[in-house]
Amino acid sequence: MKTLVVAAQKGGAGKTTLARNLSVAAAGEPNRVLCLDLDPQASLRGWWESRETDAPAMLERDPAPHSLRATLNAAREQFDLCIIDTPPAAPEWLTDVISAADLVLIPVRPSPDDLRAVGATVSAVNAANVPFVFAMSQTPRAKITEETARVLAQHGRVAPINIAQRVVYAESGATGLGVTEAGDAKASEEIVTLWTYVRGILHG
Ligand SMILES: Nc1ncnc2c1ncn2[C@@H]1O[C@H](COP(=O)(O)OP(=O)(O)O)[C@@H](O)[C@H]1O
Ligand SMILES: [Mg+2]
Repeated sequence: MKTLVVAAQKGGAGKTTLARNLSVAAAGEPNRVLCLDLDPQASLRGWWESRETDAPAMLERDPAPHSLRATLNAAREQFDLCIIDTPPAAPEWLTDVISAADLVLIPVRPSPDDLRAVGATVSAVNAANVPFVFAMSQTPRAKITEETARVLAQHGRVAPINIAQRVVYAESGATGLGVTEAGDAKASEEIVTLWTYVRGILHG
């Protein structure tokens, strides 16, 4: 089982949105996917509870951060991929969670504030010596998007697809769907491309 942790200390960066949509895209392959929600706000779980299928799966209860390793070990035979959503903060236990990852996905919105905040997340990931990749999130078609990507590329790999600002991403939070299920062609293509890229790193 591979473990993908979605992390960014900045709130609103797009962690939960990417965790939801990647888990749906990945679970469609077929690939047994487990989602864990380590954010006390439980937005990933709230979305999952309004779904009508149990793929991707969640546990009856999410583990406390200190028992994450045991949960992952117990899930190892049953699942091929575990996607973990994290809070918009840097609790002490975040480093342990990051250490359990095969890859950390760091969503970044193209704004100076988000760029400034990304350093703390990168430091935490580097301290754990785990590979990471940036994903540009909620991108407008504007110069600032390219500029942000250029700056990020100096610090690590940037996914070759921008997740644009699209209403369907926000809407799918209410419907319990992933954008690939909601039938939005452009958003689906973004998510499938991002998942294909992430899968390539996880299995590369
Ligand atoms: N690509 C996008 N297009 C439009 N809205 C988005 C997009 N990504 C996230 N959002 C919205 O922005 C808000 C914050 O996103 P969220 O994924 O919850 O961030 P985080 O989990 O990092 O705090 C949510 O209301 C979400 O619906
Ligand atoms: Mg969130």
